[in-house]
Amino acid sequence: MPLSIRGLWYEIPRGPAILRGVDLVVRGGETVALMGRNGAGKSTLLRHAAGLLGPTRGRVDTAGRVALLLQNPNDYFLRERVSQEVSPEALAAAGLAGLGERNPRDLSGGERQRLALAIVAGEGDPPVVLALDEPTRGMDREAKAALAAELRRRAEGGQAVIVATHDPEFAAACAERAVLLADGRVIADGPAAELLAGGWYFSTETARILGGAGEALEPEAGANVLRARGRDAVRSHEGPAGSHERPAGSREGPAEPLGAVDQGAAARGGLS
Ligand SMILES: Nc1ncnc2c1ncn2[C@@H]1O[C@H](COP(=O)(O)OP(=O)(O)O)[C@@H](O)[C@H]1O
Ligand SMILES: [Mg+2]
Repeated sequence: MPLSIRGLWYEIPRGPAILRGVDLVVRGGETVALMGRNGAGKSTLLRHAAGLLGPTRGRVDTAGRVALLLQNPNDYFLRERVSQEVSPEALAAAGLAGLGERNPRDLSGGERQRLALAIVAGEGDPPVVLALDEPTRGMDREAKAALAAELRRRAEGGQAVIVATHDPEFAAACAERAVLLADGRVIADGPAAELLAGGWYFSTETARILGGAGEALEPEAGANVLRARGRDAVRSHEGPAGSHERPAGSREGPAEPLGAVDQGAAARGGLS
């Protein structure tokens, strides 16, 4: 399996648990949109997939190279000219033929992201897993569509693609599966079309989190109920002595109040 994550916890020493028992398997040929609000743990999860962070408990197994495209494409540019960064073939494949003489930093947002992707993916064997963290920031529609097409092409070639995004439109354009992360937990995992459209899956999960919120049938309604209940959830669910959901034998809860990180999973259930 290209990427297999089992029971992944990531806990900051004397701080909050950022990931709380995440299970996620991504198969070759699959594109997964990893969604959830700011602070849900998306970037932390991708860093574990790429081996930049190690779990405090649980397992992350990968079947080969994981390429991770971080949020700022400029971090990948070392040269003064685009043509010095990748081969002409890779440039053409990235739709950047003709821009070889430009400075990478002067490209448009979408072009920079595509060049960074070509650099990260490399030119030998493709990575087994391609992970992208919020790649559409600052992109116009056209650039997003081009990137979505590129990700679909890579998945069709057998790569396992996982893309953290806030952008439901982009997620729908590139992913058949969406995973919704909230407060370090996977709260929904299912067909992107249904999850993004507020189909049964989101509703079921929302109802589960709320203990059967009868009226929360649309994601917006569900998210509103979740937000409204967020404060209560913090108190009842995350007491000052530490979460009762930590696995047996884990260390005691944080010495300080958990603050913004540890709002209940429910408070983070919205897609926006
Ligand atoms: N090293 C760290 N120390 C303390 N808190 C952290 C650390 N890394 C991440 N966090 C917190 O963990 C939460 C999840 O962060 P992140 O994975 O970046 O979420 P996302 O990418 O979904 O916005 C955030 O609240 C962030 O502030
Ligand atoms: Mg992030």
